[in-house]
Amino acid sequence: MDTQKSEVPPITSYKLGKFDLSHRIVMAPLTRCRSYKNVPQTHAIMYYSQRANKGGLMISEAAGVSDTAQGYPDTPGIWKKEQVEAWKPIVDAVHAKGGIFFCQMWHVGRVSNADKELEPEFRVNGVVMETFSPPRRLGTDEIPQIVNDFRLAARNAMEAGFDGVEIHGAHGYLIDQFMKEQVNDRTDKYGGSLENRCRFALEVVEAVVDEIGADKVGIRLFPFANYMESGDRNPTALGVYMAESLNKYKILYCHMVEPRMITVEEKCQTPHSLLPMRKAFKGTFIVAGADLAALGRLFLSNPDLPKRFEINAPLNKYNRETFYISNPVLGYTDYLFLESVDHISN
Ligand SMILES: Cc1cc2nc3c(=O)[nH]c(=O)nc-3n(C[C@H](O)[C@H](O)[C@H](O)COP(=O)(O)O)c2cc1C
Repeated sequence: MDTQKSEVPPITSYKLGKFDLSHRIVMAPLTRCRSYKNVPQTHAIMYYSQRANKGGLMISEAAGVSDTAQGYPDTPGIWKKEQVEAWKPIVDAVHAKGGIFFCQMWHVGRVSNADKELEPEFRVNGVVMETFSPPRRLGTDEIPQIVNDFRLAARNAMEAGFDGVEIHGAHGYLIDQFMKEQVNDRTDKYGGSLENRCRFALEVVEAVVDEIGADKVGIRLFPFANYMESGDRNPTALGVYMAESLNKYKILYCHMVEPRMITVEEKCQTPHSLLPMRKAFKGTFIVAGADLAALGRLFLSNPDLPKRFEINAPLNKYNRETFYISNPVLGYTDYLFLESVDHISN
């Protein structure tokens, strides 16, 4: 056991639309690569149930919106019936503990492995996780189909029992690829100007809102990062434009990733600030220091994280080596609860 320092958000209640949160610590979406053949497995019931708590908001690991949306091994999907059925007992287990559960939906876009190529590679801890095939620009006429995949995935998420969805618009995946000038080299209405580059993201938001209602929709954005080469020369303008445009749809929340986190591996300081976006967005803003704080790695290693913050207890250290392995227990459901730590040390 080790103590890892973190900004501790307050244990105070918060009204998130129709949801009554009893504290402001949100479980951030965490890909765990344990959904064999893209179907959530029964071991995920225990994993999410361990981390569920009364009035706590949790966001699921990213779930693919179609069979072409997937990029990493054994990540779950939400596009077919078998997956929806597999999510149901997981969602039920979170609800049984009084948790509020949103499904994060993604399409990885060019970070995909349609054909295995050697380059480029995505590495975690120096281990090659996945290799990607050369990207292909989507035809303008293909885009409505992808937008529709998000719409259907949102409907499926509701069918599975989720309380809402979070559209993954961050980290260099498809939506971010459209938004960022470093990747987007399109010459149609989805490329060029800031407005054009954000069009796809907003079409997805509109379709999902139309399908399940704005009160159940959040979006995650990361204007500052250049993951998977998705950089932008003016991330603040991009973030503010998105925040302002999102106001029109009255979605439940906007979840921005902090600029300090430039890569998944390391934290480094950047000169950027989320403040202009916080000011521009009229709904709930999720980020450390805002309305709600989403925590990833500490939630992964501390199933009872909000309780530990409440009583100022020491925290379990996370083990990076087991973040993405496929073992159904190790580094997944075997992180100790405070009671068992006390029990062992007594
Ligand atoms: C193992 C792991 C998996 C992640 N998977 C996702 C994901 O599926 N979707 C996403 O938006 N972010 C993902 N992230 C980013 C986290 O949600 C979070 O933003 C990041 O870990 C920073 O927060 P932290 O410092 O509290 O860990 C992942 C991070 C880690 C460490």
